[in-house]
Amino acid sequence: MSRRQSLHGQWSSRLAFVLAATGAAVGLGNIWKFPYMTGANGGGAFVLIYLACVLAIGLPVFMAEAMLGRRGRRNPINAMRLLSEEESGGTWWQLVGWMGVLAGILILSYYSVIAGWTFSYTIDTVRGVFVGADSATVTDHFSALMASPGQLVLWHTIFIALTVYVVGRGVEQGLEKAVKYLMPALFVLLLALVAYSMTTGYFMEGLRYMFKPDFSQVTGQTVLDAMGQAFFSLSLGMGAIMAYGAYLPDDASIAETSFTVVLADTSVALLAGVAIFPIVLLNGLNPGAGPGLVFQTLPLAFGHMPGGVVFGTLFFILLIFAAWSSSIGLIEPAVARLVENHNLTRPRAAALIGVVVWVLGLLTVLSFNELSHVTFLAGSIFDNLDFLTSNILLPLGGLLIAVFAGWVMCKSSTVDELEMGIGFRYGIWRFLTRFVAPLALVVIFLNATGMLGLLRSTNA
Ligand code: PHE
Repeated sequence: MSRRQSLHGQWSSRLAFVLAATGAAVGLGNIWKFPYMTGANGGGAFVLIYLACVLAIGLPVFMAEAMLGRRGRRNPINAMRLLSEEESGGTWWQLVGWMGVLAGILILSYYSVIAGWTFSYTIDTVRGVFVGADSATVTDHFSALMASPGQLVLWHTIFIALTVYVVGRGVEQGLEKAVKYLMPALFVLLLALVAYSMTTGYFMEGLRYMFKPDFSQVTGQTVLDAMGQAFFSLSLGMGAIMAYGAYLPDDASIAETSFTVVLADTSVALLAGVAIFPIVLLNGLNPGAGPGLVFQTLPLAFGHMPGGVVFGTLFFILLIFAAWSSSIGLIEPAVARLVENHNLTRPRAAALIGVVVWVLGLLTVLSFNELSHVTFLAGSIFDNLDFLTSNILLPLGGLLIAVFAGWVMCKSSTVDELEMGIGFRYGIWRFLTRFVAPLALVVIFLNATGMLGLLRSTNA
């Protein structure tokens, strides 16, 4: 039995871990990114592949990551080094932790800019800007915001400051309190938004768009996007869940807590899609509009529903909180590492990372205006940051975590740490972790790069 202590304290209960991990998981990824990725990939088939990725890869890797975190009880870099010593793996396994720290910093750099859009929309909703608006007004409004680097930097700065503040205060006071009431509130508002969508007359069309798969649209890229989105939305593959697992009490069931978080995260994403697509279709908006989709859609709903100003304001405020609790997960690995290895206080470590992320974020700000003409590989600078992190770094981290938990760690260590016996459920976890997740990840990578086709033709 591992009975290590974490330097940073421990969650007061299993529920606190579930709330914090749900806080990290539920965020812009569910409400902003899931709908626009679904729209960009043609709807139903993407959603189906996404759900398959969540179940077959996301859930087992989530359990594996939380397990490694609790067993190591250190920041992801140190945890991977320690565990791989114990399990006689190579020291290079700590690279998983380093990759995660890098991914977290890169993701937060653009995440913060998008969270900034939410601030701006909150204020405009309060001011009644969207009351009675039509789709042209709302689309122009979004373009005007994108064209203003000054505004984008302002909100980006405020969001980073908020993140640094709460992470600086530490595990107990900072993280636990924020999520307890706000996530359920967001969930309720989403349900109300779905109810509004039901009144639009386009609800069935929306459902069909989201759930009727058209596999002729599916390419290797679609599958890679779906898998990347699963990792992004679950906060997997970059050490956030490992860092949170490090604070998980010894007697909490990893399987049950993981399942709860994965279920909550997936429900929020699906609800967001179900709420948004009827409004997209009703207003003749383009589902493939990209990152602006949700910000061009929700204001139309708030502008036309009864009590829309109050409802919309509340919704955007809760979305800010959801993004805030996710941003904490993004820098926690880096901050924990600085505190453990470089003797910095938490506030200093958080501020240092905050500065780095703020500067990097300027790239994303500019990629929507001054530098929008700079495109390469995946598209704009923002598109490339998103692709590099969601579609490459996180799944690669997940692949290594699965291989470590399934092949490097001896079976008895995993049985000991997961505390679920060696029954059916453990058997499924082990099978998915050893075979299904790693194989699927490798095939999806090869397929998306066209390597699989190449291999096939050389064999033929
Ligand atoms: N899962 C978060 C979201 O969906 C983003 C995130 C990724 C947070 C990785 C932490 C770590 O918004």
